[in-house]
Amino acid sequence: MRDIFSARSEAGTHDQNALSRSRERLVQEGRTLKELSQSNPTRVELSRDPRLFSLSSVRNNLYTPESRGLCSTRSALAAHFASLQRNIDAENLFLCASTSEGYSWLFKLLCDPGDAVLIPKPGYPLFEHLAALEHVKTIAYTLEYAHASGWYIDIESIAAALSGPEGGRVKALIVINPNNPTGSYVRHTERGPLLDLCEKYGLALISDEVFFDFPMDETVKRESFAGEQRVLTFVLDGLSKRLGMPQMKLGWIALSGPEASVSAAKRRLELIADTFLSVGTPIMNALPELLVRESEFFSRMLARIRANYAQYHEILEGYEGSPHRVLVCQGGWTALVESPAYLDEEEVAQALLEATGISVQPGYFFDFERGVHFAFSLIIPENDARAWCVEYRSFFDSLRME
Ligand SMILES: Cc1ncc(COP(=O)(O)O)c(C=O)c1O
Repeated sequence: MRDIFSARSEAGTHDQNALSRSRERLVQEGRTLKELSQSNPTRVELSRDPRLFSLSSVRNNLYTPESRGLCSTRSALAAHFASLQRNIDAENLFLCASTSEGYSWLFKLLCDPGDAVLIPKPGYPLFEHLAALEHVKTIAYTLEYAHASGWYIDIESIAAALSGPEGGRVKALIVINPNNPTGSYVRHTERGPLLDLCEKYGLALISDEVFFDFPMDETVKRESFAGEQRVLTFVLDGLSKRLGMPQMKLGWIALSGPEASVSAAKRRLELIADTFLSVGTPIMNALPELLVRESEFFSRMLARIRANYAQYHEILEGYEGSPHRVLVCQGGWTALVESPAYLDEEEVAQALLEATGISVQPGYFFDFERGVHFAFSLIIPENDARAWCVEYRSFFDSLRME
């Protein structure tokens, strides 16, 4: 019989993996899991004033369908970014419900079915799903790690993909700045070669900067692609990470580049955005009030991220002969830990979960091909981070004894 469902929805039928099944069973048995990879900012005890801002305003009774989002909100955002020395033009901003939705709009804008985008590996699995739902292929380029100096984009792997058999179908290069889960910003020395490749092959650049303002320390060198003029550039960001409010559903896309490309892109993107008009009026009206609180939120998050990163180093590396290594992280909400391969990643994750209730995402989730890596959250409360990390270390000590 003819299949009623689309091929692109097939991923929804895949069975859960063994780790997810074990998690579910433990929860059903009444165990409280210790979420060592927690990335949901509304679940990490950041107490919030419920009167932080008001969604009840008489202005919310008015519906003004503007494809790019309310002009007043875009102007407030542009002014806010100007105060951070970031060049974003209110006229070139598109508001959307989340950065995930922003990606889907950009894939509609740039790609026909069967076209491809370049994504970093290791990287966040979300992009593959977002692309597949638009019939877009992903081709991975690699990030390589050199201890103490950190992660590097393997520019050659991008050039190879572009000159390979599917190179002609590639429409965009996606950089995550800083990348999740590697926590690495695009280096100054990488920027030129990336733009050269975009120019040479006629690619758009998509820079996901949702973690940009969470550097591990003030000396970290970071450069935004906002306002980049050499190629058609889309910078994605939103409240999900900037204010730790994914539930508010407000993200944005900032366009820049050669004028003719930007104005052509805007006209098409306007049609896409106008078809959905997905952002709620209350959150758009509340945004200026929320932005006032941003620096306070950054201070609290940065203090936590930095304290947890230091604790992980101290607990996992601060003794003679430690078999663990905390990889260099320049920013973002995740630290990668490399641990000894007493068992393979999946087995360790399972055994750790059963024995201690610690649930932590293994490296294969992010397409790591070698070694045993786990993604440790930097945003969980410091006490939990300390206690769970000590348990993690003891668990490995017990494996070594066996
Ligand atoms: C790098 C990166 N971009 C985008 C997103 C999605 O964010 P949003 O909630 O705005 O869709 C995530 C989610 O964790 C992410 O890690």
